[in-house]
Amino acid sequence: MKNFRVQPCDRLQGTVRVPGDKSIGHRSLIFASLAEGRSHITGLSGGLDNLATAEAFGAMGVEIELGSNEAWVDGVGLRGLRLPERSIDCGNSGTTMRLLAGLLSAQRFGLRLSGDESLSRRPMGRVVTPLRARGAHIKGVSGAKEGEHYPPLSIAPLVEGESLIGLEYEMPIASAQVKSSLLLSGLYASGPTAIQEPVISRDHTERMMLALKVPLQTLGAMCVLDPAGWDGRWDPFSWAVPGDISSAAFLLAAVQLVPGSEILAQGVGVNPTRTGLLDLVRIMGARQGVIPKGDGAGDEPTADLEFTHQSIRGGQVGGELLVRMIDEVPALCALAAGCSERVEIHDAQELRVKESDRLSAMANVLSEFGIPCREKPDGLIIEGGRPLRAARVNSLGDHRVAMAATVLALRADDESVIEDVGCVDTSFPGFAEVLGSLGAQIEVEEAP
Ligand code: S3P
Repeated sequence: MKNFRVQPCDRLQGTVRVPGDKSIGHRSLIFASLAEGRSHITGLSGGLDNLATAEAFGAMGVEIELGSNEAWVDGVGLRGLRLPERSIDCGNSGTTMRLLAGLLSAQRFGLRLSGDESLSRRPMGRVVTPLRARGAHIKGVSGAKEGEHYPPLSIAPLVEGESLIGLEYEMPIASAQVKSSLLLSGLYASGPTAIQEPVISRDHTERMMLALKVPLQTLGAMCVLDPAGWDGRWDPFSWAVPGDISSAAFLLAAVQLVPGSEILAQGVGVNPTRTGLLDLVRIMGARQGVIPKGDGAGDEPTADLEFTHQSIRGGQVGGELLVRMIDEVPALCALAAGCSERVEIHDAQELRVKESDRLSAMANVLSEFGIPCREKPDGLIIEGGRPLRAARVNSLGDHRVAMAATVLALRADDESVIEDVGCVDTSFPGFAEVLGSLGAQIEVEEAP
């Protein structure tokens, strides 16, 4: 097991690039694998989650040459995937499993999608149910909650003469993973796929489909993919994946915790479905600089972000804003400790089924650092403006909990230890080194 030993820090300063966006990386690899010809993707995070997606397509006959943070992908077209020799291991990556569940439900070969211990506890009924409604032969196994489907997922092939049918689906929760799974299955369907979300979730799949001229129409939280009359192909592409705003969020939290800090994060993706934390921080009284830098992969807007320590009140987040910062809640929890007032997080029950139960994990981490925190079924009430005491906490194998705890430790009164931080490599390889380059002192220790 790897731990971080983190010293209190006086000031963070400098210019950095965060690793490529995990969500955009997955999708770039998927669309390149299905293109007809050789694509080139740069700016990949090098994280384990994206690697799981690349390896899955490798196992299905797609030649993928991986360099450091780039990939050359010899796409096989929509109908060119081959039966893998063994089950596909999605590792810790829920996005890999849910997106592939949709895509692979439409194939003429069957297979199994498995995952690590954390992924095996995550609910898959949200994709299994609508995919079955359009004719997919997919099922999971039983687990903690009755009637739910858990990994591994087994997909039986569509037989000769069978195909997925059109689907009109009103999603009970906003989820880009579910939406993308259904859209990918819809590429092969005999009728249109019409999806309505309660609130729009990240729209990277839609942007890429539009960039590749897939017949998709979007209107707010609604989208319709109608493959009638479409030739079912797209050309290969050269795309640059922007930096991950979900990783940059930890730098913003660190800046807000450590007085006098200033960080410039270059080339970060600022898709409006992802910038909820920047908006919330502005509502709470701190304005961060956003310098637009053009578009990256699949028409994704990018910017340089100037984070400067500013005094910040407290605030509330829920509803649509929460959806636009669903992965940033652990970073917000760390940032909340640096606010002068209370921070309330509502409507965040989805966080209970992420890589860990993030509400309970963050409530525990905050309390260990001496920050009063009350857990509610759908959120947290955090009392900011208190001194942080040094702590020894465990990440529970969740990369974002590990990084949030590390950021809190920068402001503690003595050395802190964050246990089990190997998981950070799923999304932010080099996290400790990046913070180190900005002035933090973090030692990586191998613990038995
Ligand atoms: C993701 C969507 C979100 C997010 C996850 C990545 C994606 O999950 O939490 O880290 O790439 O589609 P949900 O769609 O389940 O909210």
